[in-house]
Amino acid sequence: MPYRTVVSGAKIIAPKTGNGLWSMKTEKQYKELTIKEFTKAADKYESDHAGIYEICKEDYPYISSELEKEEYHDLLDCGCGTGPMISLLYEKDPSKHYTGLDLTPKMIEVGRSKNLSGVDWVVGDCENLPFEENSFDVIICSNSFHHYPNPQRFFDSVKRVLRPGGRLILQDYTAPKPILWLMNHTEMPMANMIGHGDVAARSLDEIKTFCDAAGLKVEKLNRAKKMRLHLVARKIQ
Ligand SMILES: C[S@@+](CC[C@H](N)C(=O)[O-])C[C@H]1O[C@@H](n2cnc3c(N)ncnc32)[C@H](O)[C@@H]1O
Repeated sequence: MPYRTVVSGAKIIAPKTGNGLWSMKTEKQYKELTIKEFTKAADKYESDHAGIYEICKEDYPYISSELEKEEYHDLLDCGCGTGPMISLLYEKDPSKHYTGLDLTPKMIEVGRSKNLSGVDWVVGDCENLPFEENSFDVIICSNSFHHYPNPQRFFDSVKRVLRPGGRLILQDYTAPKPILWLMNHTEMPMANMIGHGDVAARSLDEIKTFCDAAGLKVEKLNRAKKMRLHLVARKIQ
């Protein structure tokens, strides 16, 4: 694992493409920052004045169009926030079983307050999904992945809880490697300084490596407009 070092018994995140040494944080510190950031954002997250988070809305149609390509019943939204994707999907088809999971209790509280019948809302960590093996037909994850200090654990966990044949549809940031290096050594540490929990954006090569190591088959992996990362990966068995 290229990104793991141990200092004083704590795991320190030092990804080759991640934050610079001057800004190294422990896994716990990144996750605390994330919770702090999204506790503040929760009440306005789905409003028209959500600031930087409004860009997330641009990904929802892409995720919906990928989802429509195959039948499914049990869907997990990893890092669902207040559940904007779940609301859209529920509006179209309330008969499916939707589960939203997020690290920030306040985001889940706002999602749950929508009172969408049959939807499960779970406070939890995408790096250690609290579900039985083979629980979901499809897992979506949008604009959450760059907050994960241990990305391999996320992919391993996804592989475990997906059913054979099930898909992971993931949207996040990426860029050509030199730009990625700059982002991860300037933008991300600055975001940390203003109380945001960003860890690192990953290259397409890294994503492929994580999927291969987890045993997920990459079916689509590309960089789209506005530095968007599109991934569709499948659990074969
Ligand atoms: C920018 S929001 C995206 C919300 C939603 N997926 C969307 O596209 O609008 C990122 C969310 O990821 C969540 N998150 C970050 N790290 C997480 C982790 N390790 N496990 C679960 N959720 C996490 C944050 O709490 C936050 O709600």
